[in-house]
Amino acid sequence: MLKIALSGCNGRMGRAITELASQRGDLEIVAGFDAVPTKLSTYPVYADPFEYTGEVDVCVDFSTASALDHLLAYCVPRGLPLLLATTGHSDAQLAALRTASEQIAVFKSPNMSLGIAVLRDLVCRATRILGADYDIEIVERHHNQKLDAPSGTALALAHDVQAELPFEAELVYDRHERREKRPKNEIGMHALRGGTIVGEHEVMFAGTNEVISISHSAQSREVFASGALHAAKYLAGREPGIYDMRDLVASIN
Ligand SMILES: NC(=O)c1ccc[n+]([C@@H]2O[C@H](COP(=O)([O-])OP(=O)(O)OC[C@H]3O[C@@H](n4cnc5c(N)ncnc54)[C@H](O)[C@@H]3O)[C@@H](O)[C@H]2O)c1
Repeated sequence: MLKIALSGCNGRMGRAITELASQRGDLEIVAGFDAVPTKLSTYPVYADPFEYTGEVDVCVDFSTASALDHLLAYCVPRGLPLLLATTGHSDAQLAALRTASEQIAVFKSPNMSLGIAVLRDLVCRATRILGADYDIEIVERHHNQKLDAPSGTALALAHDVQAELPFEAELVYDRHERREKRPKNEIGMHALRGGTIVGEHEVMFAGTNEVISISHSAQSREVFASGALHAAKYLAGREPGIYDMRDLVASIN
């Protein structure tokens, strides 16, 4: 039975994972960590991970970016694998994560959905074929409670596109002060916020007389929760290093 400590357990994603985990017999949440440490389920909830002294196989984080430094201080000395699903980290935090990954296994993905892993693969292929001639823009839509913009997934898609293009492309977030035609070497990034939208991502390839759009729509948080539990099982017992959805998908093939 895989033992999971869940950081951010009382948030929207934390509750979705708690619900899904309760229906499975192969894993259990043994402790929750949350800035608001109300006990909402069967497991104990702590404001500080260091308060939990029991056994754990994997720490899963769906909290907030500022939690990372303390989580690494908890996970690294214990050799505890960390599944980092939280988004919005600074460059300095990502550098600290890379250093930590020399000692622990880290799984990091801004989007735990298997469908998004396929979307990223398709976008890479489309960019290789169309990227030299088509204008590429990325649009994402999320609920009005989301803190970071653009989403971590939109940034991951943009970095995928940048890596495949035959020229250096710049990400452009705001054009409202410009009065000039769209240069070829940019990728427009658009973040829409409203209501309860779970998460939508679209990559548009606009060419002469045709537009190709590749998109993904998450209709429930369960897709992320399900992918996260899948990834937690994949991560337990792994060697130190950084893993992502491509590794998980490759392990399924
Ligand atoms: N990778 C994915 O597939 C995926 C999917 C959805 C959301 N997310 C990300 O997961 C994170 C959480 O999303 P959400 O919608 O559940 O947010 P939320 O605001 O509903 O929940 C966050 C929870 O974290 C708690 N928290 C805040 N600071 C904390 C700290 N320092 N330590 C421990 N807990 C703390 C809050 O009290 C809250 O209960 C966000 O970064 C979001 O972008 C990732």
